[in-house]
Amino acid sequence: MDASPDRGPDLRPRTGGPGANVRTAVLWEVLSAALREADPHGTGLVVVDAGGGTGGFAVPLAEAGHRVTVVDPSPDSLAALQRRAAERGLAVEALQGDLGDLTALVLAGSADLVLCHSVLEVVDDPAAALVAVAGVLRPGGRLSLLVANRDAAVLARALAGRPDEAARALTDPDGRWGVADGAARRWTPTGLQDLVVAAGLTVEQLHGVRTVSDLVPSAVLDLEPGAAAALLALERTLSARPPFRDLATQLHVLAQRRPDHAKQPEE
Ligand SMILES: C[S@@+](CC[C@H](N)C(=O)[O-])C[C@H]1O[C@@H](n2cnc3c(N)ncnc32)[C@H](O)[C@@H]1O
Repeated sequence: MDASPDRGPDLRPRTGGPGANVRTAVLWEVLSAALREADPHGTGLVVVDAGGGTGGFAVPLAEAGHRVTVVDPSPDSLAALQRRAAERGLAVEALQGDLGDLTALVLAGSADLVLCHSVLEVVDDPAAALVAVAGVLRPGGRLSLLVANRDAAVLARALAGRPDEAARALTDPDGRWGVADGAARRWTPTGLQDLVVAAGLTVEQLHGVRTVSDLVPSAVLDLEPGAAAALLALERTLSARPPFRDLATQLHVLAQRRPDHAKQPEE
């Protein structure tokens, strides 16, 4: 794991080629900064990865010294996660269940950080699921939430020569473009922030993830010297800047559970 005095541990995964790293770099940078702020002495935080799957986020976080629990309904994914962790000599707690089971599986108010990446799209009731996710956070704890962006889908369908599907995604309440759409739902930046606030959390940051990296052919990144680094710098700049942020493939919110108010002295 790289470490530099100003940036702290670099949690970005080393696999998947330059394109893969560019696509997830902004997310890892936001997460790394939040972790540094919450854990300035590097003693490790309590992290819950809700719908964490095979551990693409959980394993690097465990490697960085955090105590990580993954909750996921898929036994196959949990088995792959445990293999991946064991190969690195790491312990990651793997609990089978879905977001609805979260409060029964994880102690309420216990987590410093909860990840919920690419999961809200597939649950039956995203608003109720997010309330369950928020309940696991300690006061002051943070949520890292990643979802699909409705407006990116509108643009993608239009560019694919499907203006009718683009128009449908724009008006469909779930942001779906048709029956063949593999996604169950998507959000706009405003809709996502409203959902987070309704779950009792305060939005601290909103970023676009894969703002332009999905538009660049991977061959360009693989063959042109310096192209991946230049694209990463551009991705970083655009990720926080509307209108580019709002057209990214995915939207990322970092939110905080409001600290409990100090107890009033009893009369
Ligand atoms: C697209 S994968 C994302 C995995 C991981 N969060 C990541 O970003 O790499 C979606 C994950 O959500 C899990 N999942 C599906 N339905 C779920 C539910 N109701 N509650 C929690 N997780 C669920 C799936 O098993 C899968 O591991």
